[in-house]
Amino acid sequence: MTLIPQNFLKQVASGYGVSDTEFEVLSKALLEGESIATIATQLKLKPETVRKRLGETYRKFQISGKGPGKMAKLQQLLVALYQEQTQSEEFLSRSAEPTNLISCQDWNAAPDVETFYGRSEELSQLNQWILSDRCRLVALLGMGGMGKTTLAVKLAKQNAGKFDFVIWRSLRQGMSLGSILSDFIQFLSPQSLSNFEEIEVGISQLMEILRSNRCLLVLDDVEMILSCQDLAGYYADGFTDYGKFIQRIAEEPHQSCLILATSEKLKDLGQLEGQKVRSLQVVGSEEISQKILAERGFVVSQNWVSLIERYGCNPLAVKIISGMVQELYAGQVGDFIKNTLLMGDVRSLLDQPFQRLSLAEKELMYWLALEQQPINLSQLQEKILLPLSASELLETVGSLGRRSLIEKSQKQGQTYFSLQPVVMKYAIEQFVRQVDEELVGLIKNQDLSGIRLLKLYPLESSENSNKHYSILDLVMNRLRSRLFTNTRGLNLAIKRLEESLSNLQEEFFEGEYITQNLENVINAIQ
Ligand SMILES: Nc1ncnc2c1ncn2[C@@H]1O[C@H](COP(=O)(O)OP(=O)(O)O)[C@@H](O)[C@H]1O
Ligand SMILES: [Mg+2]
Repeated sequence: MTLIPQNFLKQVASGYGVSDTEFEVLSKALLEGESIATIATQLKLKPETVRKRLGETYRKFQISGKGPGKMAKLQQLLVALYQEQTQSEEFLSRSAEPTNLISCQDWNAAPDVETFYGRSEELSQLNQWILSDRCRLVALLGMGGMGKTTLAVKLAKQNAGKFDFVIWRSLRQGMSLGSILSDFIQFLSPQSLSNFEEIEVGISQLMEILRSNRCLLVLDDVEMILSCQDLAGYYADGFTDYGKFIQRIAEEPHQSCLILATSEKLKDLGQLEGQKVRSLQVVGSEEISQKILAERGFVVSQNWVSLIERYGCNPLAVKIISGMVQELYAGQVGDFIKNTLLMGDVRSLLDQPFQRLSLAEKELMYWLALEQQPINLSQLQEKILLPLSASELLETVGSLGRRSLIEKSQKQGQTYFSLQPVVMKYAIEQFVRQVDEELVGLIKNQDLSGIRLLKLYPLESSENSNKHYSILDLVMNRLRSRLFTNTRGLNLAIKRLEESLSNLQEEFFEGEYITQNLENVINAIQ
């Protein structure tokens, strides 16, 4: 009936506090598919007792509901648990040493690394640093798309068995140090209280855990807590205390390791580097690029080699370009080169594929960009105001995936979607530009017909959304620099927007964001 082995069921059931007599009944019902009456006869029990034991088992597994559906739910849960275990065993069997239980690893939204090519030198260097030299801090540096995240996942998965705990977090959403610390402490040492008042106390609590256990901590997308304006490497407002945290991890004795992946080198890293602190520049790789091309069915000609070299053998760039060559030029790379303006970095590379997106794709990209963190399909469907059915949504997500513009990750058995940081930044810029056009249109000629994004998306400020990019501020910066050069212009703009707002009231639809957006913009101007 199911593929769950009895010993796995036994192990999980006892973990959930299921007694031996309850397990006997459960195993017959679940693994052999026997009815209550048959089980009662076989075990010489009253049917009532069998029912009671099963009921007790459901309760322990926290399966609610009525009737036969409960067995199906339980089965689903067990199959999911079993798959989780076998998947983790699969990667463990590839690594040489035995590991701890899956419960000691928390991968949160780390992306799946389904195919991994090359990087053997980098991996052996990193293994040397982490395992032999016992480095406390290792930074992976390199521009977006080079493969820092992929390498960090591979490294951490390979070495998971050598640590008591593994925990992965992305700072994509700009999490404060306080929340990262309590998150870490809660996972690593649930019994200790993690509601500290002063950040120093939180850091000390974590240091204590890192001394008594060997933990592998991974922080990805660290550039998201760095200032966008300053010279590279300074912390953004509100994140400066990360400096203290990183310094203590680097300087105090403990047996754990923190891996940072960032496209901008932290300014204090240089001073910390030494015996216990190292950084590795993750650079483009011809090997990876060629394997990606081969996997997509291309023969790697001289044309290809020179094309990928122009993009520094950046794997993300190679994925995006090869998708375009396939779609637009029937796989003929020579034609692509002839017809395309070549630009050096991944961001300028995005102009072309972005212009080619369908409306649905573009608008879904905007949702993912504004969300600024991984989101699953059902959350997306609940939130977005786009007129897409579930299957169209799935199709659109799939299409963006084929263009390598979105990435997938797993969290608690669910698939989450997000944008690569470079792609997110690009999509936000495009979004802001278009919203700005719409606002200027409103201010200049109160033309409501051209309004689309202002209706469909909320312009949040980072104050109340706790996100890295404050969309409202970005829009306002752009608008200010274009329009409000004097007080007269400013007052006129407010007046026009207020008029538009009152015109709107009549045709306002429930659930559209325009009213709220215009109010926010008017408030921000004043
Ligand atoms: N070693 C590798 N093997 C296969 N694919 C890779 C490898 N490194 C990077 N990629 C692919 O390139 C893209 C960008 O990699 P990623 O790790 O997200 O870069 P970064 O974190 O530096 O921005 C991803 O789609 C990833 O799957
Ligand atoms: Mg990354």
